[in-house]
Amino acid sequence: MAETPNRWEGVYQSKEEAETSWFEDRPQVSLDLIAETGAGKDAAIVDVGAGSSRLVDCLLEQGFRRITVLDLSETALRMARARLSPDAPVEWVAANVLHWQPSGRFDLWHDRAAFHFLTEASDQDAYLRVMDRALVPSGHAIIGTFAPDGPASCSGLPVARYDGALLSERLGSGYQLVRSLSHEHRTPWGSVQRFHFGLFRKV
Ligand SMILES: C[S@@+](CC[C@H](N)C(=O)[O-])C[C@H]1O[C@@H](n2cnc3c(N)ncnc32)[C@H](O)[C@@H]1O
Repeated sequence: MAETPNRWEGVYQSKEEAETSWFEDRPQVSLDLIAETGAGKDAAIVDVGAGSSRLVDCLLEQGFRRITVLDLSETALRMARARLSPDAPVEWVAANVLHWQPSGRFDLWHDRAAFHFLTEASDQDAYLRVMDRALVPSGHAIIGTFAPDGPASCSGLPVARYDGALLSERLGSGYQLVRSLSHEHRTPWGSVQRFHFGLFRKV
């Protein structure tokens, strides 16, 4: 994942939102899990590997006002930004999460379908180090990946697949699994992809 920004740029430059398998009109599972954390409207939230996801639109609608949206692809960020008011309280970050040095800390880290592209242990470790530095004590992490019986690849890239136990083991003892949720995502063309979402609390 670390070496493929052009691949992702290419995806977003050549496809409409609804031509990508991961498109969701409304990211309801993510919104439900965010609600479960009890995050107040002033919570600092980062969506990592957000692409052009509509999560930021929904969070703004709900009144959240400290949102950071990070992705490798500037095109994806531009697509999301174009939907929103120019003065929306969002920080847009075009960066590789593995090398990101956030200027502040976050109450909530959200990632749907980015972490699973890290198939090398060293990349996963680098990601988790960034996440751990970024999260406040008792902060929450929501990580959605393909489930063990989900697809083995996406956009031509292999993925690592997780259930609650595997993800919990990967995050380590510093993170308590609060909720493990299976979800069947329906792609815009009607096929089903099995996801797993883990909600963790930093201990
Ligand atoms: C399958 S898409 C999911 C997009 C979004 N989270 C959603 O649910 O609609 C994966 C996203 O992860 C981003 N990504 C992949 N590797 C990344 C990295 N190392 N740093 C930041 N973003 C990355 C890609 O650019 C892409 O937008």
